[in-house]
Amino acid sequence: MDWKPGNGEIMIVDDTPENLRLLEGMLRDKGYSVRPFPRGSLALKGAENCPPDLILLDIKMPGMDGYEVCSRLKLNEKLKEIPVIFISALNEPLDKLTAFTCGGVDYVTKPFQVEEVLARVETHIKLRQYQVEIERQNDRLRGTLEQLRSAQTKLVESEKMASLGILTAGIAHEINNPINFITSGISGLKKLLDQVLLLIERYTNLDTAHPKADLKKIDELKEEMDFDDVLNGIKELTASISTGASRAAEIVRSLRIFSRLDENDKKLADINENIDLTLTLLRNQYKDTISIDKQYGHIPQLLCSPGKLNQVFTNILVNAIEAIKSMPIPLTEERIAIKTGIVTEGDTELVEIEIRDSGPGIAKEIRDHIFEPFFTSKEVGKGTGLGLSISQGIVQSHQGTIDVESEPGMGATFRIRLPIKLGQGEP
Ligand SMILES: Nc1ncnc2c1ncn2[C@@H]1O[C@H](COP(=O)(O)OP(=O)(O)O)[C@@H](O)[C@H]1O
Ligand SMILES: [Mg+2]
Repeated sequence: MDWKPGNGEIMIVDDTPENLRLLEGMLRDKGYSVRPFPRGSLALKGAENCPPDLILLDIKMPGMDGYEVCSRLKLNEKLKEIPVIFISALNEPLDKLTAFTCGGVDYVTKPFQVEEVLARVETHIKLRQYQVEIERQNDRLRGTLEQLRSAQTKLVESEKMASLGILTAGIAHEINNPINFITSGISGLKKLLDQVLLLIERYTNLDTAHPKADLKKIDELKEEMDFDDVLNGIKELTASISTGASRAAEIVRSLRIFSRLDENDKKLADINENIDLTLTLLRNQYKDTISIDKQYGHIPQLLCSPGKLNQVFTNILVNAIEAIKSMPIPLTEERIAIKTGIVTEGDTELVEIEIRDSGPGIAKEIRDHIFEPFFTSKEVGKGTGLGLSISQGIVQSHQGTIDVESEPGMGATFRIRLPIKLGQGEP
């Protein structure tokens, strides 16, 4: 901040005209703008109309004395920060304690030592102006912080939408398959049932007096339609419809659990089950090209925000799938291995989730930056560079850690560790 001596506005309050003149002249000479007041009450009004940077205040005045003027200034929100320097004549006993307790910052004694008065005035004006500047900076910082917070919230939302976008595209496809199964199964079943109905009708209309001839016809018909095949067909189609229906139900169930992305409250959740349902929703992205190798250990349920952890699993799995698919020539059999289990660090027990892919791996220069927000090696429009930084934030809010181990050509392994007994922090 630029500060020049003589820069500032000072109010002088003194009932002795010579003192007013003396002080006024002295301060004006230094370049201050000065407003003199002969009475405390007038000074209060003046300050209210236009707050000065500093007030020089006589103590002994008729009507309202200096202490009272000062106390009233300090009660006023708008004026309470203005520094007040008391002026007292040497022959008046200066009550220093009262001067400070009613809010004065300093005092000078009459007759004035010009240099001393100027030095004190300068110091307090400077302090005041620094204080104002700091408050201004603080306000600006508060504003910037607010803007950053809301920008961050928007980014987290957009990343969430991006991963939901990837998921929904796949899910639409996934859910269509079992529905096609069911639809074509039902039309085949209808044809077979029509034949069975025809037989039942013949049996119902059997001539009970002379059934032989009718029964022969029915047998002929059975042979014609290959009755055993019809029965087997019915069994097969029913099984296939039932598979389709449970597959659709499974996807819907996964979606229902997964879509609790926004729920912040902690719940007991089975991590293995949550990884499975994330895999169900992502199946369309990997099913034809990548095999998934699961080695789930026995792990206790964790008190956590499952929706948020699912977002972490999604981000890491989508990265792994994209990494594998980005390889022009596959290096090995394309696979993602997921391992869960319990590890101990000191006397803390943690659940460890390891996701390893057979992709191209990550070079050191890139590896050092992957958890930074906006860091992406993907082309514009493909990557946001937010997946891992958001995931790290989520894991840390569960008092956990996430790290990566990777060499080019060796695939990448992401490792998440979550304490089994979560502390007091809010996940
Ligand atoms: N499994 C992986 N294999 C290779 N590189 C990866 C893998 N996971 C992440 N990365 C690297 O980390 C970067 C940051 O990932 P992320 O934060 O999810 O953002 P984005 O996927 O949008 O690029 C990726 O662009 C990629 O370079
Ligand atoms: Mg990503």
